[in-house]
Formats: sequence, C-alpha cells, structure tokens
Amino acid sequence: MRSFFLRCLLIFSLCYSTAFSQDGNKPAWWKEAIVYQVYPRSFKDSDGDGIGDLKGLISKLDYIKSLGVDVIWLNPIYQSPNDDNGYDVSDYRSIMKEFGTMADFDALLKGMHERGLKLVMDMVLNHSSDEHYWFQQSRSSRNNPYRNYYHWWNAERGTPPYRYSIFDVNHDAWKYDSLSNAYYLHYFSRKQPDLNWENPALRTEVFDIMRFWADKGIDGFRLDAFQFAAKDTTFPPFPQGYEKELSKYYAMGPGLHDYLKEMNEAVFSKYPLMSVAEGAGNSFEDAHNLVDANRKELNMAYAFEGVDIAKSGGYSLLHFKEVFSKWDSAFAENGWLSIFLANHDQARMVSRFATDDPAYRDKASMMLATFVLSMRGTPYYYYGDELGMTNPYFTSIGQYKDMQVLNEYHHLTNANGDIGKFLKEMHFSSRDNGRTPFQWNDSLHAGFTTGMPWLEVNKNYKTINAAAEEKDPNSVLNYFRKMVRLRKSDKTLVYGKYTLLDKTNPHVYAYTREQDGRKLLVLLNFSSKKAAFISGVDLSKAKCLISNYATASKGRTLQPYEAAVWQIQ
Ligand code: GLC
Repeated sequence: MRSFFLRCLLIFSLCYSTAFSQDGNKPAWWKEAIVYQVYPRSFKDSDGDGIGDLKGLISKLDYIKSLGVDVIWLNPIYQSPNDDNGYDVSDYRSIMKEFGTMADFDALLKGMHERGLKLVMDMVLNHSSDEHYWFQQSRSSRNNPYRNYYHWWNAERGTPPYRYSIFDVNHDAWKYDSLSNAYYLHYFSRKQPDLNWENPALRTEVFDIMRFWADKGIDGFRLDAFQFAAKDTTFPPFPQGYEKELSKYYAMGPGLHDYLKEMNEAVFSKYPLMSVAEGAGNSFEDAHNLVDANRKELNMAYAFEGVDIAKSGGYSLLHFKEVFSKWDSAFAENGWLSIFLANHDQARMVSRFATDDPAYRDKASMMLATFVLSMRGTPYYYYGDELGMTNPYFTSIGQYKDMQVLNEYHHLTNANGDIGKFLKEMHFSSRDNGRTPFQWNDSLHAGFTTGMPWLEVNKNYKTINAAAEEKDPNSVLNYFRKMVRLRKSDKTLVYGKYTLLDKTNPHVYAYTREQDGRKLLVLLNFSSKKAAFISGVDLSKAKCLISNYATASKGRTLQPYEAAVWQIQ
C-alpha cells in the first residue's frame, strides 16, 4: 500500500503541453551546480557517541570540496526526538543535541563558505514533531490559540473518515487524543502530526523560521513532503474507486501554489536562495506549475518516477530510458528539474540500478555517475555513492533502525502477516540500506566513529573506503571527480539539448547533448555483458572526453558497464 500510495501521489500520469515563456535554458547558478547530499547521522562522528555530527562534518569539508561539488544538502539537523531521524522537528530554531550546537552550525557554514561550498537546509513543513511547543499547546485544549496549527476531528462527530498513514503501525492517519477528546491527523508517524497550512498564523511563523536561517546566510531550502501540505480538509469519506485519484484527497490541493507564492514573496525573493521540492506532483502540468520561473514559486523539484523504477530490484532499461526521456522532453524548454538515482529514502544506487557484484561494482558505479552527471537537470549525488557504497543487506529485524521498517514489522506481527516475505523485501529495499555509515578507511567501524555506530557499518568497508580509493587512480572516487570536472567545464552537459539514440536497445543507453554546434555522445552499457551499440554515429573522428575503461570502445561493442562521453562535433 505504501508504494502504491506514494506512487499515486508523487508520480505524474498525464500529458502536458507547455504554454509558458521559455526559461529552461536561462543560466542560473543552481542549474550549473552539483549537489552532494549528506545524511549527517551517518557521515562522521566527532565525539564517539556513534552518531555523526556537525563537528564531524566540518572535519570532512576538505574531502567534500575535493569532489568538486558546489552545494551540500543536509538532511534535517533541528532539535528532534528522532522518531524519523530528524524529520520530526521539535524546535526549528535549534540544533539537535546529538549533532552539536548552534556555534557548531555557524562554524560549519563559515567553513563551507570559505571553501566556496553552499548549504541547502531541509525544511520539514508538512508536519512537526508531537513534541513541538505548537503541538503541545494545540492538544492542550480546544480553545488554545495553537489549536488550528494542526488538523483535529472532534470525537462527537464520530470516527473520522479513513485516511492512510505511511508510517503508522495501524496505517491509520488519525490518532485519538483523550486530552481534548479529538483525533489529530498524521500522514506519517503518530509523532509527526500534520500542520494546518490553511491557518495564516502558521504560515507567518514558518516564513519567520525560514528567514531566521536565511539571515544566517544559508543558500537554499529543500521542502520535505511539501505537496501534502495542501490537502482536502473537508475530509470527505472516500467514494468507490478513490484509489485512482488519491492525490485529490491527500495532496497537491490548489492552495499549494498560493502557499508557495507567499513563501516566495516572504522568503525566496528576499535572499539569493535556491529552492527545491521533494516530489513534482501528479502530472507534468503540476510539475511545471511548481517550477516554471514566471510563476515565482520554486526553482526546481525532483520527480520520483525514475528513481522508483528499481525500488525492488530488477527493471527494464527500455522503461528507464523512456521515463528519463519523457521527463527531459517535458522540461526541454520551460522549467528545471533535478536528476538523481539515490537519496536517504532509497537503497543504494549501485545495488538497485546496476550490480554490487564485486566483479563489476566499480565499473557499474562509474557508469551510473556518468549517467547522473551527463543528463539535463541539477544532479544530486548521495554521500557514499562516489565510492560505490552498496547495500549492507541486513538479515534480522534487530539490525534495522528505520521506524518505517520497525512499525511495519509490528503491524504484520499483529495482523499475522507474512514476516518472512517482508524481511526479504526489506533486505533489498529498506531505507537503512542507504543510511549505513560513510566508509572512510579500513580501521574499526570504517573510521566513522570510535564508539558503537548507531547503524551497522557495511562489512565491505575494508575494500570499499575513501582512503583506499584516494590512492587508486582508477577508483570510483577518482572517476567521480573526473566526471564532475567534465560537467563543470562543459556547459553542453548542463544546458545542451538531449536526444535519445538507439531507443530499442535493451542494454545500451545512448544519447547526445548538443548546444551551439558542440555535440557530445554519451554511451552507457547497463549490463554485465558486452553489448552492441547499433546507431549510425561515426566515432572514427570522435574525441573521447571520459571513459571508465583504459580505452573506450570505438567499435560497435561496449564492454560490461562501459561508460564514455565522446565529443562528436
Ligand atoms: C520525506 C523524507 C523522509 C521522511 C518523510 C517524512 O519523504 O525524505 O525521509 O521520512 O518525508 O518527513
């Protein structure tokens, strides 16, 4: 149900023809930037408590700078009881104690700016923690001034109409609270009550919080799960067949654009900030309405259709090509999107989209890096993917820390569900697969902590780690740096027109990027076998700009997981 729910809400389904002014190729720093995502809990621990922290991150800024990336997107670092690892904020103006202090934050930002790195903060605004002052007030009585900061359903009205909760142990999004004899709404866990965006007082407070961070000098915001902020608050009972139109009830209500316009006016327009939303709505039209420049809402969004293709492993490259090509063409002239294959809500990129078989893992990781960094859209790269980090493949429930897994486990236990099947699925696809500590070196706990890591380190850290890859000129890490340099030095890879070649080839993804008479050809073999490339492009006079093999194949056959970018004009 969860994936069905998210799929219905976050993925496009309609066709859309554009009717806006052309702004897609107008240069902007955030279009040319490469974003590196840091999951702070797992990056570097400085004080031995087993949890990554801001001082740890500061100690690794030179490493991040050495990658050549421009921006760090930091998952939430605000005060939080950590029901959902920081996505349940109890104070938006202070730092989670496990991560450090505000002085550490100031030092982090200073250290980043000194190195020319920008910082994007993650704003969790669809919900807060139930431990936030607003919610404590809100639940205290029906007459409290904060009552309408959240969605309540008074018990005299009967049981509220069913709404699905993604993380709740009963999948029920309404939780009864005896204090005021009413139910509150939580799309995510019970500890994440949904904020009521229809209340102007809430909006004013939120914009104030955003200005607090902007005044500190941060460089952008990622809006977490924001499309859920505008929901149908009349909460009608679901009619038959409602599944086909879930989003009508749950998200992307017309109010969303008003909220974003207000946010833009109150915050984005006043500072040199970049803004990106998680999710791009249900249609190309939704996505354009979020990001087309003349609408003054957001700079970009990230759509999930591509990244979700390999959610449970096994996928068809033809489908992959089709999805990425259609999103590119919908945004070829107007608007801007991001390009990514991983984040903290997914299992590891190389394990899902290619292979973590040691025989091919390096080449496969390099091939995926070539893809992400040669497509149109702002690339987002998740920490550790530059090393080719893989799924740890946990086998017992005790190894998981993500409450999504733990709650679902309890749900299935209570419902006599198929635990074996569930654990098998989680083994491959749980979010913890993508959250294991960064592998710095081959010492105990991969150099991440001197204490006990909050989540087990992947056993392959002795071979996959930054120190080892640093020394190896042919490592995934050094290839990633090379590919970053190529993208940064060649605007054709940022703005150039994308054209898919060899569409029906089931193993090879081939496309050109073209601008001002310069034409690049990207060739990617997504398989572990040699694969023929059958398009009529003549490579005899082409210049190879990068390849993950010592010599890129000039003929019509690519090596396993071969990747190359050729200049053909
Ligand atoms: C977003 C975050 C995810 C979190 C959820 C609830 O999808 O990326 O990690 O659990 O929102 O805040």
